[in-house]
Amino acid sequence: MSKLSHAQWSSRLTFILAATGSAVGLGNIWKFPYMVGDSGGAAFVLVYLLCIALVGLPVLVAEWLIGRRGQNNPANAMSDLAKSVGQPRIWMIVGISGILGAFLILSFYSVIGGWSLYYTLSSVTGAFSGQDADGIGALFNGMLGNPGLLLLGHSVFMLLVIGIVARGVTKGLEGAVRTLMPALGVLLLVLVGYGMTTGHFGEALGFMFNPDFGALNGGVVLAAMGQAFFTLSLGMGIMMAYGSYLGKEVNLLKTARTVIILDTVVALVAGLAIFPIVFANGLDLDSGPGLIFVTLPLAFGNMGGGVILGLMFFLLLTFAALTSAISLLEPVVEFVEERTPLSRVGSTLVAGVATWVLGVAALLAFNVWSDVLILGFNVFDFLDVLTSKYLLPLTGLMAIIFVAWVLDREGVRQELGLGDTGAKVWTLVSRFIAPLGVIVVFISSL
Ligand code: TRP
Repeated sequence: MSKLSHAQWSSRLTFILAATGSAVGLGNIWKFPYMVGDSGGAAFVLVYLLCIALVGLPVLVAEWLIGRRGQNNPANAMSDLAKSVGQPRIWMIVGISGILGAFLILSFYSVIGGWSLYYTLSSVTGAFSGQDADGIGALFNGMLGNPGLLLLGHSVFMLLVIGIVARGVTKGLEGAVRTLMPALGVLLLVLVGYGMTTGHFGEALGFMFNPDFGALNGGVVLAAMGQAFFTLSLGMGIMMAYGSYLGKEVNLLKTARTVIILDTVVALVAGLAIFPIVFANGLDLDSGPGLIFVTLPLAFGNMGGGVILGLMFFLLLTFAALTSAISLLEPVVEFVEERTPLSRVGSTLVAGVATWVLGVAALLAFNVWSDVLILGFNVFDFLDVLTSKYLLPLTGLMAIIFVAWVLDREGVRQELGLGDTGAKVWTLVSRFIAPLGVIVVFISSL
């Protein structure tokens, strides 16, 4: 797309909705709670919040700024900007590694999207009604042990993503985001209300917010940082791509603050919905990726109106997963479209089918390929760890270094609309705290 014809978001609100649609997804509702459970609770939450504020916020602003200045896809934006300040084009590596990461993430993300679809159906058929923890656990394990079922869920989810991206209607989704995301929020609050009736809400609060620093170690800190990148859709060039459609008048810092608060609140509320159920039923805190699928159905199966609420919840969760998944496929498709003679539809098919194939390998990790290990991880975990813990933070690190150290400082100050004090804080955070934070976390995890 040429510079002049490069489209723009119609308003700041539209942009916030699109960025929030990408950020809020399975990462908040499925991944955050189980990582809190796996990592011992509040200490993890605290490190996560610190990473969001000190690393996530500056990286998010940096990615938007690169996109808005570059007016191009992430790889070209990086290479053009680098050239404009006399730096080698090799900086485009940041854009390319982002595209690779998006492809890897979407492959396993879609598998969980498939679980969500299956649970939507299971709510309708009343599969949760009156079940105890054992019954719900059996339902979940039955799904995991059934490759055909997982394949069906993953395939349907990928087809939906491909269908939407191929039509190029991605930006038509904001209207839906505007109504469906708040609805999801309301349902989460209903679940928090249910949690309050279990008599174990206080325990859940303590678990999430009363830190036991003995639980902290390098691995936990790395996991928390990775989750901060994952949940904000950072380190994949996605936010750069979004920023390239952003008008000059939009205040990046304020907008970042809004998106980050929304994203963080959803994650914390999801935790507050889930842990009371865990404690009330004596479930394992470290149930891993199955956590929401063995807790929430228990709530739906045992509360008034549970069938309809369960149906709505999993439907909305699937929708939130879709809006994030779209943002993962889009940059891959643009990349293929630009570099090959393929049309939009052709590029979407190539990118979508490649992602689907890798996703099949990921879902087999739960059953027939459970013994196939890469560096000690099954395929699913390997894709997750490689991207969340390494690719995202590394790519984000390069983005923030680029903005803080390579781009002209005065121009960045003006673009962020900073006064003297603000500029000092920004310099301190973007040049030192955020990059050193990422580096220290990496080193401490070794
Ligand atoms: N942030 C989304 C979530 O929490 C997932 C996601 C969408 C993502 N786009 C991304 C993660 C880009 C990393 C990079 O569910």
